[in-house]
Amino acid sequence: MLFKKKEEKDYQIDMNNIPAHIAFIMDGNGRWAKKRKMPRTYGHHEGTKTIRTLALEANRLGVKAMTVYAFSTENFKREASEVDYIFKLPKEFFNLYLKELMENNVQIRYIGHLEMAPIETQKIIQSAIDQTSMNTGLILTFAFIYGGRDEIVQATKIICEKYKNGEIELDDITEDYFEKHLMTEDLPAVDLMIRSSGEYRLSNFLPWQLAYAEFIFDETLWPDFDENQLHRAIAIYQGRERRFGGVLK
Ligand code: FPP
Repeated sequence: MLFKKKEEKDYQIDMNNIPAHIAFIMDGNGRWAKKRKMPRTYGHHEGTKTIRTLALEANRLGVKAMTVYAFSTENFKREASEVDYIFKLPKEFFNLYLKELMENNVQIRYIGHLEMAPIETQKIIQSAIDQTSMNTGLILTFAFIYGGRDEIVQATKIICEKYKNGEIELDDITEDYFEKHLMTEDLPAVDLMIRSSGEYRLSNFLPWQLAYAEFIFDETLWPDFDENQLHRAIAIYQGRERRFGGVLK
């Protein structure tokens, strides 16, 4: 069969060593659609299903936070019709899946410049955030109109303002202090970053937060990425020795 999925395989996962925070660069929607002679937007449409699948599975496994790169500040360079389509996806996504995510205790958040999105998109996302704010399961964060360098510049400006107003001393600015001014302020550190579609770049995604994360680059195109690939990535992660700058034991 032309579009046969990768062969299913069982991966052994140590439930005592589940990454607390997994970040995904959802890449390959356009190529997935092109292979099927469909418009790129169809790939994005199918890609949203993967978010649902992985969020439910990550939640079941006890992952605390999952962050997905839904739209970068650089994505505005795409055709207006594609950008418009992506901005309509939150409505479709939450209409279809919010109830189920709610039932599974998933909390929705976003990082990025939501104020730059059409007002209807802002309302849909804000409503999902409000409705799920008391949930205590997986925190599913959408990086939407997000850029990592921009995030660092924004944090720097806030801190400079506090310094200028005499609220803080220069020595108060530590790594921990800086981190609290990022958009991910209270999320756990990212343990694992997964990029689909065989591209090997960070593309301005969480540059500060990924400083000590493990990276996995998977060949699967995003709409085909499923629980099995997630299990595989977690199994690979668990096989790595994280030293955080220390030495091998
Ligand atoms: C990358 O694939 C994907 C994106 C830029 C957009 C991803 C967005 C979603 C899956 C939906 C977001 C949903 C919500 C609910 C906010 P690509 O277009 O770069 O693929 P290509 O590299 O094959 O061209």
